[in-house]
Amino acid sequence: MLGRVDECQKRHSCHHAARSEPNCQTTDRGAMKAIQYQAYGSYEENRVVNVERPQPKEGEVLVKMRAVGINPLDNTFRAGHIYLATPENLPRIGGQSGVGIVVETRSAEFQVGDRVFVRGAGWGLVADGTWREYVAAPAAGLARVPADLDDNHAAAFLAGAGYLTGYLALTEFAKFKPGQTVLAPAIGSAVGMETVQIARRLGASLTISTASTTKKAEQARADGYEHVIDLSRETLKDGVLRITEGKGVDVVVDGVSGTLTGQALASLAFGGTVVVVGYAGGREAEVSITDIIWKAATIRGFTFRLFAPETVAAANTAILGYLKEGALQPRIGKVFPLTEAPEAVRYLIEDRPYGRVVMQIQDTAQH
Ligand SMILES: NC(=O)c1ccc[n+]([C@@H]2O[C@H](COP(=O)([O-])OP(=O)(O)OC[C@H]3O[C@@H](n4cnc5c(N)ncnc54)[C@H](OP(=O)(O)O)[C@@H]3O)[C@@H](O)[C@H]2O)c1
Repeated sequence: MLGRVDECQKRHSCHHAARSEPNCQTTDRGAMKAIQYQAYGSYEENRVVNVERPQPKEGEVLVKMRAVGINPLDNTFRAGHIYLATPENLPRIGGQSGVGIVVETRSAEFQVGDRVFVRGAGWGLVADGTWREYVAAPAAGLARVPADLDDNHAAAFLAGAGYLTGYLALTEFAKFKPGQTVLAPAIGSAVGMETVQIARRLGASLTISTASTTKKAEQARADGYEHVIDLSRETLKDGVLRITEGKGVDVVVDGVSGTLTGQALASLAFGGTVVVVGYAGGREAEVSITDIIWKAATIRGFTFRLFAPETVAAANTAILGYLKEGALQPRIGKVFPLTEAPEAVRYLIEDRPYGRVVMQIQDTAQH
């Protein structure tokens, strides 16, 4: 007589993860929980719904998600504050990245039981994303998670795309060279903290960041980020000129903008570059034109649309290598269950955590 798992595997024509799915009981693909937006609006539009479990196509794997990240862009999209927020893009399952276990494979590259990073271009925006119990993902977009990295830190590694953004901003836009100085404001943020880590790995002679409170600045200094300007005590420009002895910085990678943009330009060294990545601090800025002219400044707008897929893939490979060698330390701010998505997203946007916000996916479904 067959055991329960064997019986299930015999009935299914797929390769079930007998190791991780000992309670396999059904032949139906069945339903799964997901966080779906049905309209553009408040945090409450992060709705818990039941949807059909996906079926992997040839070249894809089915991943049982364990932990997923939240990116400020998830909030911008759901709030309807981006050109992609059109009626055609609803309903939409949110989430751009996460980590999970392969439970069914139609690809020679991945085996059942592999723990993988999961993400895809446009996910959570123009295609359904990772905030659900199961994702059918093209194998080409996956990578194995290093064994010594737990699920939550793996989700944090991808959550804000700060490592990828910082790497591409420095190497592609700023043409960064070892020995140069880098400012990446907001040490608690994905773009700030992760650009600082990338810049250190690429050989920056000095990395500078900011914090809006003394508590956050002290926490960052205790973590080894030596030059964190406490914006409750000093302006960005004054802090940068103090730390660089009047020289200014070669490169700014800015995810905050708003009132910081003018200060960032004023903090540049001659010939420096500001890469404008995001607008957590506001979409409007006031700048001094002479900071642009007299410093021969370059201002670049950052969007992933500018990069060829091969460029992004090569960047991801480089970053994963840095992670494996221990040069990058993903930082968790807080972990929520997936079912608390409205509060988790609000927390990231309004409470300005020190580190990434991750949602764990409880084991409610049966495979
Ligand atoms: N263009 C792209 O492809 C791309 C890629 C990545 C990110 N982004 C964008 O870049 C921005 C930053 O992303 P992130 O993941 O680093 O954000 P995050 O982790 O949520 O951090 C944003 C930080 O900005 C600072 N901040 C300053 N003024 C603020 C205000 N009025 N409201 C909220 N925060 C404020 C806060 O740090 P303090 O409290 O210390 O000031 C906050 O922690 C977002 O707009 C994101 O969408 C764009």
